Amino acid sequence: MSNENQNLSGWRRFIKKMTKANELGKEEDIMTDHDYDGIKELDNVLPPWWLYGFYITILISIYYIIMIFVSPENYNQELEYTNSVEQAKKDVAAWVEQDKKDHPEKYTEAVAYTDAANLAKGKELYTSKTCFACHLDDLGGSIGPNMTDDKWISGGGFKNIFNTITKGGRPGKGMVAWENSITKEERQQLASYIVSMQGTTPANPKAPEGDITWSGK
Ligand code: HEC
Repeated sequence: MSNENQNLSGWRRFIKKMTKANELGKEEDIMTDHDYDGIKELDNVLPPWWLYGFYITILISIYYIIMIFVSPENYNQELEYTNSVEQAKKDVAAWVEQDKKDHPEKYTEAVAYTDAANLAKGKELYTSKTCFACHLDDLGGSIGPNMTDDKWISGGGFKNIFNTITKGGRPGKGMVAWENSITKEERQQLASYIVSMQGTTPANPKAPEGDITWSGK
């Protein structure tokens, strides 16, 4: 009990010290002779808590000036930038290391299929994964390009086609990256199926798009 009282009075003493508030009833002592239509002004001292905060900002500004302008080899924006880029590169490398351990299948070369079972699976996925909606059932093209002709926007051949399915087409063109929604095995089957359709004749072929020529299988 007595301890609590002591704490309280200690706290009160601290507050008093930090505010240096003038005692109520003694306003005349610090009354200035300013008088604005009867509104008078007290000459209160700056509260110490505020003043200490102000001193701290001054100290911080001195530290800042020294760090930024006086010893630029120790710290500056460019260095901070390069340091954080370095750090980010390390973080990415560490992430990739871990990812390689967790998902080794992502880092092995994609395999092209030519066997009937996998091509049939590719054809099935072409429908179930909605590819036909933009490229049409016979790959003749509507929103997306014709994929039976020898002109390619992002490159023909299994590797390029697999890559486009994985990473998507040019930004904003409507061909999204399917990496996260279609498994690698399925993307391999899809790309293999598209390769196998090279040179077929769709009902309404869309005009060729793209500057890369590839017609081989
Ligand atoms: C929303 C419409 C849309 C859907 C759905 C779609 N695509 Fe595409 N696709 C496009 C467009 C548009 C392009 C052209 C991208 C560009 O211009 O870079 C494209 C390009 C491609 C290309 C590259 C063609 C080239 O000339 O290089 C391949 C391969 C492809 N799509 C395969 C697929 C597969 C497989 C699926 C299903 C998993 C699919 N697309 C689903 C719209 C679509």
